[in-house]
Amino acid sequence: MSGPSAASPRRLHVITWGCQMNVYDSARMADVLAPLGFAPTADPADADMVILNTCHIRDHAAEKVYSALGRLRELKSARQAAGGGMILAVAGCVAQAEGEQILARAPFVDLVLGPQTYHRLPDMVARLEASGAALIDTEFPAEDKFDHLPEAAAPQGLTAFLSIQEGCDRFCSFCVVPYTRGAEHSRPQPAIAAEARRLIGQGAREITLLGQNVNAWHGAGGDGAPSSLARLLHDLAALPGLWRLRYTTSHPRDMDADLIAAHAALPTLMPFLHLPVQSGSDRILAAMNRRHTVADFLRLVERLRKARPDLALSSDFIVGYPGETRADFAATLALVREVRFAQAFSFNYSPRPGTPAAAAPAQVDQAEKDDRLQELQALLREQQVAFNRACVGLTVPVLFSGPGRHPHQVAGRSPWLQPVHMRGPPTLIGTETLVTIAAAHPNSLSATLPEQERASA
Ligand code: SAH
Ligand code: SF4
Ligand code: F3S
Repeated sequence: MSGPSAASPRRLHVITWGCQMNVYDSARMADVLAPLGFAPTADPADADMVILNTCHIRDHAAEKVYSALGRLRELKSARQAAGGGMILAVAGCVAQAEGEQILARAPFVDLVLGPQTYHRLPDMVARLEASGAALIDTEFPAEDKFDHLPEAAAPQGLTAFLSIQEGCDRFCSFCVVPYTRGAEHSRPQPAIAAEARRLIGQGAREITLLGQNVNAWHGAGGDGAPSSLARLLHDLAALPGLWRLRYTTSHPRDMDADLIAAHAALPTLMPFLHLPVQSGSDRILAAMNRRHTVADFLRLVERLRKARPDLALSSDFIVGYPGETRADFAATLALVREVRFAQAFSFNYSPRPGTPAAAAPAQVDQAEKDDRLQELQALLREQQVAFNRACVGLTVPVLFSGPGRHPHQVAGRSPWLQPVHMRGPPTLIGTETLVTIAAAHPNSLSATLPEQERASA
């Protein structure tokens, strides 16, 4: 591979699919490559290196990657014809799952690396440039990737993500995550606290703690005693300059009493919780290996709402899991009606190679899955609209993070994560300001400044 020397400026384009942890990982990959002279570009045609950070959770994940690779192959050829080059890297969960098959199907790919090895990227790029031969690294190395990331990182801005936990030991029977991300691994608390301080120093006022099963986080606190997510939240909430804390995604089984109590004790902890339930049928929950019942989930919701009465709930649902009957599906609708969600994600069950559920005999017919999904989504949408409407007239703090889509507008998020836009001066950006919700839309809210402030704005 011929290319400019490590010192000259080069361009990096990263395409990200999947969960927020992939978004976080993409940013960290850009950070590790910055010392090699790579600066971000929005245009893949202009890129000396393109990374596809992939997701394997549902559907034709791998096919999407191959079709994107087909388009990039042409850009790479055009650059080579012009005397340049393009390093093509496939990272993330498809890379972990497919490994060598990627190079077999797309031999123009240069690097294949799993989610646990992106700290080795600079070394992989150096080896590639020395030998010209493609490299694969999909190990689960003994060293912690988080320990090998550069201190210096591009600022994330007012709202930042912080990965505290990775992988999962729960083995829900439909899910690839335990295979692509590996065993549950919690980052040590001192490293998390240091990263939180750095983010705050760079201007973050809201931090969302991330993990595939974030409430399984465990470690030792500052005093060496065993710590839990609840204790970690208490410690982080005390950091000066931090206004808002969130965490995602949680498993119902790992919501312990201390974590519920933290929602009552910590005003910094925002009143919004994403708590996937997947199904409202005990039979299906058992088949999914979720290891909780509908009654367990409802009790949990009750305790959470008692701790934090304004808590809004979000969830994930899978429709058409193998063996799901009309009656099972009706039970899911009944659970949704009982809980009332502020928002939710719902998906058709998608068989994932290598997972137990993919081999189950009673796969539900595609048309039937589609019907059920439509019915569930209509109900969830109704609840989301109702929740947004119920906010009209309330005065709530909004963290304004940027300009709105229209001139003279600012935009931000409510405590319940709804996007809020408002006519107002740009000086509001970077502030948490009390506003009055004036109107509700299906996916957002519009607001006005309360009377006295409008006069001085
Ligand atoms: N760790 C989280 C979520 C992991 S993936 C949890 O424990 O809930 C995000 C969501 O994708 C899941 O909650 C589930 O609803 C959905 N999902 C995962 N595997 C799926 C599959 N094979 N088919 C359809 N949806 C799936
Ligand atoms: Fe997948 Fe979440 Fe279940 Fe873990 S807890 S196996 S990440 S759905
Ligand atoms: Fe997708 Fe991997 Fe995240 S499969 S959802 S990118 S953990």
